[in-house]
Amino acid sequence: MAASRADPRLVAWNALRAVEDGAFADAALSRQLEDNRLDERDRGLATQLVYGTIAWQGLSDHVLASLGRPPERLDAAVRTLLRMAFFQAIKLERVPDFAVVDTAVELAKRHNRGAAGLVNALLRALLRSGKDLHLPVASDIVQHLAISGSHPPWLVERWLAALGAAETEALLTADNRAAPTVLRVNPRRADRAAALAALAAEGYAARPTRYAADAIEIDLRSGMGKLNAFRTGLVTPQGEASQLVGAMIPVAARTVLDVCAAPGGKAIQIAERADAAVVAVDRARAGVVAIARQASRVGVAVGILRADARELPLRNTALFDAVLVDAPCSGLGTLRQHPEIRWRRRPEDVARLAALQGEILRAAATRVQPGGILVYATCTLLAEENEERIAAFLADQPHFAIDDPRTDLPEAARELVDGDAFLRTYPHRHGLDGFFAARLKRR
Ligand SMILES: C[S@@+](CC[C@H](N)C(=O)[O-])C[C@H]1O[C@@H](n2cnc3c(N)ncnc32)[C@H](O)[C@@H]1O
Repeated sequence: MAASRADPRLVAWNALRAVEDGAFADAALSRQLEDNRLDERDRGLATQLVYGTIAWQGLSDHVLASLGRPPERLDAAVRTLLRMAFFQAIKLERVPDFAVVDTAVELAKRHNRGAAGLVNALLRALLRSGKDLHLPVASDIVQHLAISGSHPPWLVERWLAALGAAETEALLTADNRAAPTVLRVNPRRADRAAALAALAAEGYAARPTRYAADAIEIDLRSGMGKLNAFRTGLVTPQGEASQLVGAMIPVAARTVLDVCAAPGGKAIQIAERADAAVVAVDRARAGVVAIARQASRVGVAVGILRADARELPLRNTALFDAVLVDAPCSGLGTLRQHPEIRWRRRPEDVARLAALQGEILRAAATRVQPGGILVYATCTLLAEENEERIAAFLADQPHFAIDDPRTDLPEAARELVDGDAFLRTYPHRHGLDGFFAARLKRR
């Protein structure tokens, strides 16, 4: 740990450079925050800079290109610094422009003295033209929304077709806001009121959420590891929509198989709440290690298996009361927390993932007892990975039928289930990550 207090802009810049090299934003930021000493306020600023810079990268790159400086031709460190300063000036109004430029130039000097002049000149031009953002005219609605809402055009096009212009615009806006930090209370240890009291005693402001029964929203001003309630297994970070998917596994299920379980959010949620034997499978080595670590912190027993869900090394007679397929997906419902995903995903990924999802779902179905339940879930908002997968599955699996999950969801969450009995959550409608889940019953 560094002895003196670090500069939050430098911390953010270093995290952004790691993201440019392929790291995930949350992991890169956590590493920087662990390695540098920042007070609560600076920690908040560094976090805002990392997430906001990545979210608004489409807009800053558009303005850079319109200045004759295509971002892909700039040095990566300079490019990330310009994007960060642009975000600060355009979206964080409390910082005056001259201070944004001065700080960015100082940071550029640390990287390479020659870069400072370029950053100074480009940033001044960027701010001059960016302030009255020359956005494409609204007649090309895809380009207009893609740039003004900072998302890739191919994704905007798909959401426009599915949701229409007004909702798409609202979704893009919601994606560019920070997601709340949500915890799940371990019901074996305490109810939600008692957990809230424990967090208050630790000095944290927290409140119950609207939809999920065991969820708490917390104003976290430190890393999770500092929270006693986390270290002792009373709470676990898990988004509210994700908790609702876990709740779709009936409490009465005594044996549960989760075939895509890492890092263990839902598998451990199910093991905590019910008197159920849970088997958690994942293909990723680091993933199964993470499940084991979380299960031990929380103090629940979970059977853990590293395997491909399409070729489970289980006896043919091993059938379960409930099987969960929390499928690998494009993750495009989680852009508040993972803003970088929008710039990494390509349209062709969606078709590849849809094929994998279909294979996993078919294999998982062979593990469901007669009369048992199969839950399929994703954290994306694309029909190819959601309702189209269910339609294709049901077309060749006549012994499965849709089962309405409302009986197992908390009263407040029942409005999130649509006329087809699918759970659908949206950042702009509900303030939740975009999830889809279907519950099927084997006849
Ligand atoms: C959406 S994540 C699961 C999240 C988890 N259920 C939770 O609540 O914390 C999808 C998981 O599927 C795993 N996965 C991808 N392909 C797989 C396969 N063929 N077999 C098993 N697991 C796979 C990934 O490693 C990833 O951990």
